[in-house]
Amino acid sequence: MKLNVKNIRYLGPDDWRVLTATEQGSRNHEVVPTPLISQLASIRSGSGVNKCISNLAKIGLIAKVKNAKYDGYRLTYGGLDYLALHSHTKASTVYSVGNQIGVGKESDIYVCASETGKQLVLKIHRLGRISFRTVKANRDYLRNRSSASWMYMSRLAAVKEFEFMKALRKEGFPVPEPVAQNRHTVVMGLIDAFPMRQISNVGDPASLYAELLSLIVRLAQYGLIHGDFNEFNILIEEKTNEETGKVTLIPTIIDFPQMVSIDHTNAEYYFDRDVACIKRFFERRFGFTSDEPGPSFNDSIKSITKRLDVEVEASGFSKKMAKELDAYMKEHGVDGDAGEIKRDDEDELDEGEEEDDDEQDEGEADTSTSPSNAHTLTSQMTILELRDNDPLPSLSDIKPQFHPAASIAPSISTKAAKAKAGWAI
Ligand SMILES: Nc1ncnc2c1ncn2[C@@H]1O[C@H](COP(=O)(O)OP(=O)(O)O)[C@@H](O)[C@H]1O
Ligand SMILES: [Mg+2]
Repeated sequence: MKLNVKNIRYLGPDDWRVLTATEQGSRNHEVVPTPLISQLASIRSGSGVNKCISNLAKIGLIAKVKNAKYDGYRLTYGGLDYLALHSHTKASTVYSVGNQIGVGKESDIYVCASETGKQLVLKIHRLGRISFRTVKANRDYLRNRSSASWMYMSRLAAVKEFEFMKALRKEGFPVPEPVAQNRHTVVMGLIDAFPMRQISNVGDPASLYAELLSLIVRLAQYGLIHGDFNEFNILIEEKTNEETGKVTLIPTIIDFPQMVSIDHTNAEYYFDRDVACIKRFFERRFGFTSDEPGPSFNDSIKSITKRLDVEVEASGFSKKMAKELDAYMKEHGVDGDAGEIKRDDEDELDEGEEEDDDEQDEGEADTSTSPSNAHTLTSQMTILELRDNDPLPSLSDIKPQFHPAASIAPSISTKAAKAKAGWAI
Protein backbone atom coordinates (compact mmCIF):
# COMPACT_ATOMS: atom_id res chain seq x y z
CA MET A 1 0.00 0.00 0.00
CA LYS A 2 2.18 2.78 -1.29
CA LEU A 3 1.42 6.32 -0.36
CA ASN A 4 0.91 8.18 -3.59
CA VAL A 5 0.87 11.88 -2.87
CA LYS A 6 0.73 12.88 -6.51
CA ASN A 7 -2.99 13.65 -6.52
CA ILE A 8 -3.14 15.57 -3.29
CA ARG A 9 -2.74 18.97 -4.86
CA TYR A 10 -5.54 18.38 -7.37
CA LEU A 11 -8.18 17.92 -4.71
CA GLY A 12 -10.47 20.90 -4.26
CA PRO A 13 -12.26 21.99 -1.07
CA ASP A 14 -15.38 20.01 -1.98
CA ASP A 15 -13.35 16.85 -2.54
CA TRP A 16 -11.89 17.24 0.94
CA ARG A 17 -15.36 17.75 2.42
CA VAL A 18 -16.63 14.58 0.79
CA LEU A 19 -13.57 12.62 1.88
CA THR A 20 -13.98 13.91 5.44
CA ALA A 21 -17.69 13.05 5.31
CA THR A 22 -16.85 9.46 4.28
CA GLU A 23 -14.47 9.23 7.22
CA GLN A 24 -17.11 10.56 9.61
CA GLY A 25 -19.72 8.19 8.24
CA SER A 26 -17.46 5.18 8.61
CA ARG A 27 -17.36 5.60 12.38
CA ASN A 28 -20.67 3.81 12.55
CA HIS A 29 -21.13 2.41 9.05
CA GLU A 30 -18.99 -0.29 7.53
CA VAL A 31 -20.26 0.94 4.17
CA VAL A 32 -21.27 4.60 4.22
CA PRO A 33 -24.51 5.13 2.27
CA THR A 34 -24.15 7.73 -0.48
CA PRO A 35 -27.00 9.94 0.84
CA LEU A 36 -25.25 10.05 4.22
CA ILE A 37 -22.02 11.20 2.56
CA SER A 38 -23.97 14.01 0.85
CA GLN A 39 -25.61 14.99 4.08
CA LEU A 40 -22.38 15.03 6.11
CA ALA A 41 -20.49 16.90 3.42
CA SER A 42 -23.29 19.50 3.31
CA ILE A 43 -22.64 20.46 -0.25
CA ARG A 44 -25.71 22.03 -1.82
CA SER A 45 -25.70 20.55 -5.27
CA GLY A 46 -26.23 16.81 -5.44
CA SER A 47 -24.42 16.56 -8.73
CA GLY A 48 -21.41 18.29 -7.13
CA VAL A 49 -21.26 15.57 -4.48
CA ASN A 50 -21.49 12.85 -7.09
CA LYS A 51 -18.67 14.36 -9.07
CA CYS A 52 -16.47 14.51 -5.98
CA ILE A 53 -17.36 10.93 -5.10
CA SER A 54 -16.41 9.72 -8.55
CA ASN A 55 -13.15 11.71 -8.43
CA LEU A 56 -12.20 10.26 -5.08
CA ALA A 57 -13.13 6.74 -6.13
CA LYS A 58 -11.08 7.07 -9.32
CA ILE A 59 -7.91 7.81 -7.39
CA GLY A 60 -8.65 5.14 -4.82
CA LEU A 61 -9.31 7.27 -1.75
CA ILE A 62 -12.76 5.76 -1.32
CA ALA A 63 -14.06 2.52 -2.74
CA LYS A 64 -17.53 1.60 -3.89
CA VAL A 65 -19.07 -1.30 -2.04
CA LYS A 66 -22.13 -3.06 -3.35
CA ASN A 67 -24.03 -4.28 -0.42
CA ALA A 68 -27.05 -6.52 -0.20
CA LYS A 69 -29.02 -3.76 1.44
CA TYR A 70 -27.62 -0.61 -0.09
CA ASP A 71 -24.71 0.75 -2.11
CA GLY A 72 -22.17 3.02 -0.56
CA TYR A 73 -18.52 3.74 -0.10
CA ARG A 74 -15.77 2.94 2.34
CA LEU A 75 -12.71 4.98 3.09
CA THR A 76 -9.52 3.25 1.94
CA TYR A 77 -6.15 3.41 3.64
CA GLY A 78 -5.15 5.81 0.86
CA GLY A 79 -8.05 8.07 1.79
CA LEU A 80 -7.06 8.04 5.44
CA ASP A 81 -3.45 8.79 4.46
CA TYR A 82 -4.60 11.81 2.46
CA LEU A 83 -6.74 13.12 5.30
CA ALA A 84 -3.83 12.83 7.73
CA LEU A 85 -1.37 14.43 5.33
CA HIS A 86 -3.83 17.22 4.60
CA SER A 87 -4.03 17.96 8.33
CA HIS A 88 -0.25 17.90 8.68
CA THR A 89 0.08 20.28 5.74
CA LYS A 90 -2.56 22.65 7.11
CA ALA A 91 -0.78 22.66 10.47
CA SER A 92 2.48 23.39 8.61
CA THR A 93 4.23 20.35 10.04
CA VAL A 94 4.77 18.60 6.72
CA TYR A 95 5.52 20.39 3.49
CA SER A 96 6.76 17.61 1.23
CA VAL A 97 6.93 13.83 1.27
CA GLY A 98 9.94 11.99 -0.08
CA ASN A 99 11.19 8.44 -0.28
CA GLN A 100 9.93 5.51 1.64
CA ILE A 101 12.66 4.30 3.97
CA GLY A 102 10.94 1.52 5.81
CA VAL A 103 8.20 -1.01 5.29
CA GLY A 104 7.08 -3.06 8.20
CA LYS A 105 4.11 -5.31 8.62
CA GLU A 106 2.42 -2.67 10.69
CA SER A 107 3.79 0.57 9.33
CA ASP A 108 5.22 2.50 6.40
CA ILE A 109 7.99 5.04 6.96
CA TYR A 110 8.62 8.03 4.70
CA VAL A 111 11.15 10.82 4.79
CA CYS A 112 9.44 14.17 4.63
CA ALA A 113 10.35 17.79 5.14
CA SER A 114 8.94 20.77 6.95
CA GLU A 115 8.38 24.15 5.35
CA THR A 116 11.82 25.21 6.45
CA GLY A 117 13.40 22.14 4.87
CA LYS A 118 13.96 20.24 8.09
CA GLN A 119 14.07 16.51 7.41
CA LEU A 120 11.43 14.53 9.22
CA VAL A 121 9.99 11.06 9.27
CA LEU A 122 6.33 10.25 8.66
CA LYS A 123 5.33 6.96 10.21
CA ILE A 124 2.01 5.60 8.99
CA HIS A 125 0.58 2.91 11.19
CA ARG A 126 -1.23 0.15 9.33
CA LEU A 127 -2.56 -2.22 11.88
CA GLY A 128 -5.20 -3.89 9.78
CA ARG A 129 -2.99 -4.85 6.91
CA ILE A 130 -1.14 -7.69 8.55
CA SER A 131 -1.51 -10.72 6.46
CA PHE A 132 -1.41 -13.91 8.38
CA ARG A 133 0.20 -16.66 6.54
CA THR A 134 -1.52 -19.47 8.30
CA VAL A 135 -5.00 -20.23 7.13
CA LYS A 136 -6.39 -20.46 10.60
CA ALA A 137 -5.07 -17.09 11.70
CA ASN A 138 -6.25 -15.57 8.47
CA ARG A 139 -9.76 -16.76 9.08
CA ASP A 140 -9.78 -15.23 12.53
CA TYR A 141 -8.38 -12.07 11.11
CA LEU A 142 -10.98 -11.78 8.38
CA ARG A 143 -13.74 -12.38 10.84
CA ASN A 144 -12.55 -9.50 12.94
CA ARG A 145 -11.83 -7.12 10.16
CA SER A 146 -13.94 -4.05 9.99
CA SER A 147 -12.95 -0.70 8.62
CA ALA A 148 -13.75 0.93 11.92
CA SER A 149 -11.34 -1.31 13.74
CA TRP A 150 -8.36 -0.87 11.43
CA MET A 151 -8.76 2.87 11.41
CA TYR A 152 -9.28 3.09 15.12
CA MET A 153 -6.53 0.66 16.05
CA SER A 154 -3.99 2.30 13.74
CA ARG A 155 -4.88 5.61 15.32
CA LEU A 156 -4.45 4.14 18.80
CA ALA A 157 -1.00 2.87 17.83
CA ALA A 158 -0.06 6.34 16.57
CA VAL A 159 -1.40 8.07 19.68
CA LYS A 160 0.47 5.64 21.89
CA GLU A 161 3.70 6.06 19.99
CA PHE A 162 3.48 9.83 20.06
CA GLU A 163 2.59 10.10 23.74
CA PHE A 164 5.42 7.82 24.79
CA MET A 165 7.89 9.56 22.52
CA LYS A 166 6.98 12.90 24.10
CA ALA A 167 7.27 11.59 27.64
CA LEU A 168 10.59 9.85 26.97
CA ARG A 169 12.07 12.79 25.13
CA LYS A 170 11.14 15.09 28.02
CA GLU A 171 13.09 12.86 30.39
CA GLY A 172 16.15 12.92 28.16
CA PHE A 173 15.84 9.43 26.68
CA PRO A 174 17.46 9.06 23.26
CA VAL A 175 14.33 8.98 21.08
CA PRO A 176 13.43 10.99 17.95
CA GLU A 177 11.91 14.42 18.42
CA PRO A 178 8.11 14.02 18.41
CA VAL A 179 6.70 16.63 16.01
CA ALA A 180 3.03 15.86 15.40
CA GLN A 181 0.41 13.15 15.38
CA ASN A 182 -2.73 12.96 13.29
CA ARG A 183 -5.07 10.00 12.84
CA HIS A 184 -2.85 6.94 12.16
CA THR A 185 0.34 8.92 11.56
CA VAL A 186 3.23 10.28 13.59
CA VAL A 187 5.71 12.89 12.40
CA MET A 188 9.08 12.82 14.11
CA GLY A 189 12.65 13.98 13.67
CA LEU A 190 14.78 12.04 11.20
CA ILE A 191 17.69 10.21 12.76
CA ASP A 192 20.49 10.06 10.25
CA ALA A 193 21.68 6.65 11.33
CA PHE A 194 21.62 2.97 10.58
CA PRO A 195 19.52 0.41 12.40
CA MET A 196 21.86 -1.79 14.44
CA ARG A 197 20.72 -4.70 12.30
CA GLN A 198 22.75 -3.26 9.43
CA ILE A 199 25.97 -2.94 11.36
CA SER A 200 28.46 -5.75 11.09
CA ASN A 201 31.22 -4.36 13.27
CA VAL A 202 31.71 -1.83 16.02
CA GLY A 203 34.99 -0.70 17.51
CA ASP A 204 33.98 -1.23 21.11
CA PRO A 205 30.99 -3.55 21.48
CA ALA A 206 31.33 -3.66 25.28
CA SER A 207 30.48 -0.01 25.85
CA LEU A 208 27.62 0.01 23.35
CA TYR A 209 26.26 -3.15 24.98
CA ALA A 210 26.50 -1.59 28.42
CA GLU A 211 24.75 1.53 27.23
CA LEU A 212 21.87 -0.40 25.67
CA LEU A 213 21.34 -2.53 28.76
CA SER A 214 21.46 0.52 30.98
CA LEU A 215 18.76 2.04 28.77
CA ILE A 216 16.54 -0.99 29.40
CA VAL A 217 17.13 -0.60 33.14
CA ARG A 218 16.55 3.15 33.05
CA LEU A 219 13.29 2.66 31.17
CA ALA A 220 12.15 0.29 33.91
CA GLN A 221 13.07 2.89 36.51
CA TYR A 222 10.67 5.19 34.67
CA GLY A 223 7.95 2.55 34.81
CA LEU A 224 8.36 1.25 31.27
CA ILE A 225 9.48 -1.71 29.20
CA HIS A 226 10.02 -1.13 25.51
CA GLY A 227 8.78 -4.59 24.57
CA ASP A 228 10.45 -4.64 21.15
CA PHE A 229 13.98 -3.60 22.06
CA ASN A 230 16.07 -5.20 19.36
CA GLU A 231 18.44 -4.52 16.46
CA PHE A 232 15.59 -3.27 14.24
CA ASN A 233 14.51 -0.58 16.65
CA ILE A 234 17.87 0.80 17.73
CA LEU A 235 19.47 3.27 15.37
CA ILE A 236 23.21 3.82 15.78
CA GLU A 237 24.75 7.16 14.93
CA GLU A 238 28.44 8.00 14.90
CA LYS A 239 29.59 11.23 16.43
CA THR A 240 33.16 12.43 16.16
CA ASN A 241 34.51 14.78 18.77
CA GLU A 242 36.09 17.53 16.70
CA GLU A 243 38.80 18.27 19.24
CA THR A 244 39.90 14.80 20.23
CA GLY A 245 38.85 13.01 17.04
CA LYS A 246 37.33 10.32 19.24
CA VAL A 247 34.33 8.54 17.73
CA THR A 248 31.37 7.60 19.88
CA LEU A 249 28.33 5.56 18.95
CA ILE A 250 25.01 7.11 19.90
CA PRO A 251 21.97 4.84 20.04
CA THR A 252 18.46 6.15 19.42
CA ILE A 253 15.45 4.06 20.34
CA ILE A 254 12.39 4.01 18.07
CA ASP A 255 9.10 2.11 17.65
CA PHE A 256 6.92 2.35 20.76
CA PRO A 257 3.52 0.81 20.09
CA GLN A 258 4.46 -2.29 22.11
CA MET A 259 5.61 -0.41 25.18
CA VAL A 260 4.24 -1.84 28.42
CA SER A 261 4.08 -0.65 32.00
CA ILE A 262 6.12 -2.36 34.69
CA ASP A 263 2.73 -3.25 36.19
CA HIS A 264 1.80 -5.35 33.15
CA THR A 265 1.08 -8.98 34.02
CA ASN A 266 3.89 -10.14 31.75
CA ALA A 267 6.27 -7.26 32.54
CA GLU A 268 9.11 -9.49 33.62
CA TYR A 269 8.79 -11.63 30.51
CA TYR A 270 8.99 -8.56 28.24
CA PHE A 271 11.89 -7.13 30.22
CA ASP A 272 13.82 -10.40 30.00
CA ARG A 273 13.05 -10.70 26.32
CA ASP A 274 14.39 -7.19 25.63
CA VAL A 275 17.59 -8.04 27.49
CA ALA A 276 17.90 -11.41 25.75
CA CYS A 277 17.50 -9.82 22.31
CA ILE A 278 20.46 -7.51 22.91
CA LYS A 279 22.61 -10.23 24.46
CA ARG A 280 21.96 -12.57 21.66
CA PHE A 281 22.54 -9.98 18.94
CA PHE A 282 25.87 -8.93 20.44
CA GLU A 283 26.97 -12.53 20.73
CA ARG A 284 26.02 -13.46 17.21
CA ARG A 285 26.92 -10.31 15.37
CA PHE A 286 29.89 -8.94 17.27
CA GLY A 287 31.08 -12.10 18.97
CA PHE A 288 30.71 -10.29 22.25
CA THR A 289 29.56 -12.02 25.40
CA SER A 290 29.24 -10.07 28.60
CA ASP A 291 30.71 -11.67 31.68
CA GLU A 292 28.02 -10.10 33.83
CA PRO A 293 24.63 -11.74 34.32
CA GLY A 294 21.32 -9.87 34.23
CA PRO A 295 20.15 -7.20 34.63
CA SER A 296 17.06 -8.56 36.33
CA PHE A 297 13.64 -6.99 36.27
CA ASN A 298 13.21 -7.04 40.04
CA ASP A 299 16.57 -5.36 40.68
CA SER A 300 15.84 -2.74 38.04
CA ILE A 301 12.57 -1.63 39.58
CA LYS A 302 13.96 -1.41 43.11
CA SER A 303 14.52 2.29 42.66
CA ILE A 304 11.82 4.02 40.67
CA THR A 305 12.67 7.51 39.43
CA LYS A 306 9.34 8.42 37.92
CA ARG A 307 6.24 6.66 36.60
CA LEU A 308 6.02 7.66 32.95
CA ASP A 309 3.51 4.87 32.40
CA VAL A 310 1.15 6.59 34.83
CA GLU A 311 1.92 10.02 33.36
CA VAL A 312 1.14 8.92 29.80
CA GLU A 313 -2.07 7.27 30.94
CA ALA A 314 -3.18 10.59 32.39
CA SER A 315 -2.21 12.63 29.33
CA GLY A 316 -3.45 11.24 26.04
CA PHE A 317 -3.35 7.50 26.04
CA SER A 318 -5.83 6.19 28.56
CA LYS A 319 -5.90 2.83 30.26
CA LYS A 320 -8.96 1.96 28.20
CA MET A 321 -7.14 2.73 24.95
CA ALA A 322 -4.13 0.73 26.12
CA LYS A 323 -6.35 -2.27 26.84
CA GLU A 324 -8.10 -2.04 23.49
CA LEU A 325 -4.84 -1.83 21.57
CA ASP A 326 -3.27 -4.58 23.63
CA ALA A 327 -6.20 -6.90 23.03
CA TYR A 328 -6.24 -6.16 19.30
CA MET A 329 -2.52 -6.73 18.93
CA LYS A 330 -2.71 -9.96 20.86
CA GLU A 331 -5.71 -11.18 18.94
CA HIS A 332 -4.08 -10.34 15.63
CA GLY A 333 -0.67 -11.69 16.52
CA VAL A 334 1.07 -8.31 16.33
CA ASP A 335 4.31 -8.77 18.17
CA GLY A 336 6.66 -6.13 16.85
CA ASP A 337 9.78 -6.81 14.86
CA ALA A 338 10.68 -9.71 17.10
CA GLY A 339 7.24 -11.15 16.48
CA GLU A 340 7.79 -10.76 12.77
CA ILE A 341 10.73 -13.12 13.07
CA LYS A 342 8.69 -15.45 15.18
CA ARG A 343 5.94 -15.59 12.60
CA ASP A 344 8.48 -16.47 9.96
CA ASP A 345 9.56 -19.36 12.15
CA GLU A 346 6.04 -20.52 12.66
CA ASP A 347 5.58 -20.43 8.95
CA GLU A 348 8.12 -23.12 8.52
CA LEU A 349 6.35 -25.25 11.06
CA ASP A 350 3.12 -24.75 9.20
CA GLU A 351 4.51 -26.17 6.02
CA GLY A 352 1.86 -27.60 3.84
CA GLU A 353 -0.70 -25.04 4.86
CA GLU A 354 -1.85 -22.85 2.08
CA GLU A 355 -0.62 -19.28 1.92
CA ASP A 356 -3.51 -16.93 1.88
CA ASP A 357 -2.15 -13.46 1.59
CA ASP A 358 -4.53 -10.57 1.80
CA GLU A 359 -4.93 -8.46 -1.32
CA GLN A 360 -3.75 -5.42 0.56
CA ASP A 361 -0.47 -6.98 1.54
CA GLU A 362 2.13 -5.46 -0.70
CA GLY A 363 4.78 -4.67 1.84
CA GLU A 364 7.80 -6.82 2.25
CA ALA A 365 8.90 -7.03 5.80
CA ASP A 366 12.26 -5.65 6.76
CA THR A 367 13.36 -3.79 3.71
CA SER A 368 14.30 -0.80 5.81
CA THR A 369 17.32 1.07 4.69
CA SER A 370 18.94 4.08 6.17
CA PRO A 371 18.16 7.45 4.63
CA SER A 372 21.85 8.09 4.27
CA ASN A 373 24.10 6.58 1.71
CA ALA A 374 24.83 2.99 2.64
CA HIS A 375 28.42 3.38 1.51
CA THR A 376 29.46 5.87 4.13
CA LEU A 377 31.72 3.46 5.89
CA THR A 378 33.29 4.99 8.88
CA SER A 379 35.96 4.08 11.31
CA GLN A 380 33.80 2.56 14.00
CA MET A 381 31.14 0.71 12.14
CA THR A 382 30.84 -1.44 9.09
CA ILE A 383 27.46 -1.26 7.48
CA LEU A 384 25.87 -4.09 5.64
CA GLU A 385 22.76 -4.67 3.66
CA LEU A 386 21.31 -7.88 4.84
CA ARG A 387 18.28 -9.96 5.27
CA ASP A 388 18.55 -12.68 7.75
CA ASN A 389 16.09 -14.47 9.92
CA ASP A 390 17.36 -14.63 13.43
CA PRO A 391 14.64 -16.40 15.30
CA LEU A 392 13.39 -15.05 18.62
CA PRO A 393 15.31 -16.39 21.56
CA SER A 394 13.48 -19.21 23.23
CA LEU A 395 12.48 -18.96 26.85
CA SER A 396 15.37 -21.21 27.81
CA ASP A 397 17.71 -18.57 26.36
CA ILE A 398 16.01 -15.86 28.34
CA LYS A 399 16.07 -17.64 31.65
CA PRO A 400 19.65 -18.22 32.74
CA GLN A 401 20.61 -21.87 32.74
CA PHE A 402 22.40 -23.07 35.81
CA HIS A 403 24.33 -25.70 34.02
CA PRO A 404 28.04 -25.52 34.91
CA ALA A 405 29.10 -25.83 31.27
CA ALA A 406 26.67 -23.16 30.16
CA SER A 407 27.94 -20.61 32.65
CA ILE A 408 31.18 -20.12 30.75
CA ALA A 409 29.77 -19.26 27.35
CA PRO A 410 32.68 -18.86 24.96
CA SER A 411 33.06 -15.55 23.24
CA ILE A 412 33.79 -16.01 19.56
CA SER A 413 35.30 -13.65 17.03
CA THR A 414 33.06 -11.57 14.79
CA LYS A 415 34.34 -13.44 11.77
CA ALA A 416 33.55 -16.80 13.30
CA ALA A 417 30.17 -15.50 14.44
CA LYS A 418 29.38 -14.32 10.94
CA ALA A 419 30.53 -17.53 9.37
CA LYS A 420 28.41 -19.48 11.81
CA ALA A 421 25.32 -17.48 11.10
CA GLY A 422 25.97 -17.26 7.38
CA TRP A 423 25.96 -13.49 7.06
CA ALA A 424 27.23 -11.82 3.98
CA ILE A 425 28.46 -8.31 3.47
N1 LIG B 1 12.93 8.67 13.16
C1 LIG B 1 13.54 7.86 12.29
N2 LIG B 1 14.70 8.23 11.71
C2 LIG B 1 15.30 7.41 10.82
N3 LIG B 1 14.84 6.20 10.45
C3 LIG B 1 13.69 5.78 10.99
C4 LIG B 1 12.98 6.58 11.94
N4 LIG B 1 11.88 5.91 12.31
C5 LIG B 1 11.89 4.75 11.62
N5 LIG B 1 12.98 4.66 10.83
C6 LIG B 1 13.32 3.54 9.91
O1 LIG B 1 12.17 2.80 9.59
C7 LIG B 1 12.24 1.46 10.10
C8 LIG B 1 10.91 1.02 10.67
O2 LIG B 1 10.49 1.91 11.70
P1 LIG B 1 9.74 1.43 13.01
O3 LIG B 1 9.32 2.62 13.78
O4 LIG B 1 10.59 0.44 13.72
O5 LIG B 1 8.43 0.74 12.38
P2 LIG B 1 7.84 -0.74 12.49
O6 LIG B 1 6.77 -0.63 13.52
O7 LIG B 1 7.29 -1.02 11.14
O8 LIG B 1 8.93 -1.69 12.89
C9 LIG B 1 13.35 1.50 11.14
O9 LIG B 1 13.99 0.27 11.28
C10 LIG B 1 14.28 2.57 10.60
O10 LIG B 1 15.13 2.04 9.62
MG1 LIG C 1 10.47 -1.49 14.23
